[in-house]
Amino acid sequence: MVTLRVNGKAHTVDVPPDMPLLWVLRDVIGLTGTKFGCGAALCGACTVHLDGRPIRSCVTPVAAAAGKTVTTIEAAGEGPTGRRVQQAWLDLEVVQCGYCQSGQIMAAAALLATKPHPTDADIDAAMAGNICRCGTYPRIRAAIKQAALSKGA
Ligand code: FES
Ligand code: FES
Repeated sequence: MVTLRVNGKAHTVDVPPDMPLLWVLRDVIGLTGTKFGCGAALCGACTVHLDGRPIRSCVTPVAAAAGKTVTTIEAAGEGPTGRRVQQAWLDLEVVQCGYCQSGQIMAAAALLATKPHPTDADIDAAMAGNICRCGTYPRIRAAIKQAALSKGA
């Protein structure tokens, strides 16, 4: 049994401790907004926050999240930073196919939570591990900058 807090709610799950957190989120808890891409920490599609920091949930054993707080894309808009990021994503119509975008938004929200006014280099460093096959990178960069400039909702 592993107990973790996901989007403000406690969950006790009866799974092997080495099961990837992504599996638990999607298949046990039913939060399917977080996506499986590579399964090897190479694409960022599975990015969630663990105690506020971005992690690759496909390679994080659920035991590593025991007693910690997990935030997924389903709750990204509940805080002011995530709300601004999501609004900027909508305003600039960032999304193309959408598959990578929950991971992109979670990475961007984590960046702005620690660096409210990131430089291009900060954005490059924070977002480099999040791959977009549709090539939405210019809009992602613009949306992060807009979110940084916008006032909290
Ligand atoms: S699915 Fe986790 S990094 Fe690609
Ligand atoms: S929007 Fe299609 S992979 Fe990023």
